[in-house]
Amino acid sequence: MLRVGILGCGNIAAKVADSLKGNKKVAICGVASRERTKAKKFAAAHCPDAKVFTGYEKLAQSPDIDLIYIATPNTYHYEHAILCIKEYKNVLIEKPFVMSKAEADSIFFEAKNRGVFVAEAMWTSYVPLHKLALEWIAAGRIGAVKYVTANLGYDIETVPRLNSTVLGGGSYLDLGVYTTNFALSFMGDDIKVSRVFARKVSSGIDRDTTYSMESEDGSMLGNFYVTMCADTDRDGVVIGEKGKIRFSNINNYRKISLYSPDDTLLDEAIDDKDYLHGYVYEFESCADAISKGLIQAPDMPWSRTIKIAQINDTVRAMM
Ligand SMILES: NC(=O)c1ccc[n+]([C@@H]2O[C@H](COP(=O)([O-])OP(=O)(O)OC[C@H]3O[C@@H](n4cnc5c(N)ncnc54)[C@H](OP(=O)(O)O)[C@@H]3O)[C@@H](O)[C@H]2O)c1
Repeated sequence: MLRVGILGCGNIAAKVADSLKGNKKVAICGVASRERTKAKKFAAAHCPDAKVFTGYEKLAQSPDIDLIYIATPNTYHYEHAILCIKEYKNVLIEKPFVMSKAEADSIFFEAKNRGVFVAEAMWTSYVPLHKLALEWIAAGRIGAVKYVTANLGYDIETVPRLNSTVLGGGSYLDLGVYTTNFALSFMGDDIKVSRVFARKVSSGIDRDTTYSMESEDGSMLGNFYVTMCADTDRDGVVIGEKGKIRFSNINNYRKISLYSPDDTLLDEAIDDKDYLHGYVYEFESCADAISKGLIQAPDMPWSRTIKIAQINDTVRAMM
């Protein structure tokens, strides 16, 4: 059983704790907040057996925790990850992993030196339908990929964290990291950002971002759109020379459908589990990897996280 400690008792931490109730491989054994009453209330509501820690340092130093799930605002991921890694604690860090490629490099340098497991909680990379789509492509079912597109939008523009530059708000860092991971998954790592348009507000926050990517050899093009102002269909399409795969909700895969070029449905797979179940896979993947002595999650290797961080730097510089 992997003993997980939650660092930061916020919105996503509550969902994750609920999703792991009764799990046979992973248990929430500790929760840490900057405020004791908040941690106690969180534990009572979501994981009553967990030990309560006041302050993140205490959790990082606890011998009863195997992996710390970092669920603080974006600009704190680096500081909190380093705190845990220096205590030889394995970490699963919420997306966006950190605020720059330099921070990502530094985390992996410290982790490698200590033999500590680190993974990015890019939950979409760990789900079975994502892996099945990759298998379809590897088996040549749509031929060589030529075009990838996806959109991801939620009407969340009043969420304070997303409106704060200090906390790393904005549509790209909140949602664009998913579309970028989608692009890398299906176009490969050898891609570059060719165009960015962001609708920024006076605070400097990008409320909507559209961007394009292309493969270095010019054979593939990708177009992406993210917004914190509207509930979009959140769909994606990967088009190959012999067919296409349609994704119903690229953030919480519900269905993937394989079509011929003339739109005949050839294959389909559905995830009918409760959406909270989507968070379980990343934790079970960490449990498996750590039990094998790995310091990376095969579903989300360090090279992918570094590449996303590098693209994030470019997109944000081009806004
Ligand atoms: N995978 C997903 O589906 C998903 C969904 C939503 C968010 N996320 C990611 O998860 C992270 C947290 O997002 P969230 O929506 O859960 O945020 P949130 O509700 O604002 O919670 C963040 C928590 O971080 C802690 N914290 C530490 N320093 C803070 C500071 N200076 N200001 C505010 N909070 C601070 C607080 O916990 P204490 O007060 O207990 O210390 C707070 O409750 C973000 O990186 C976000 O991108 C992922």
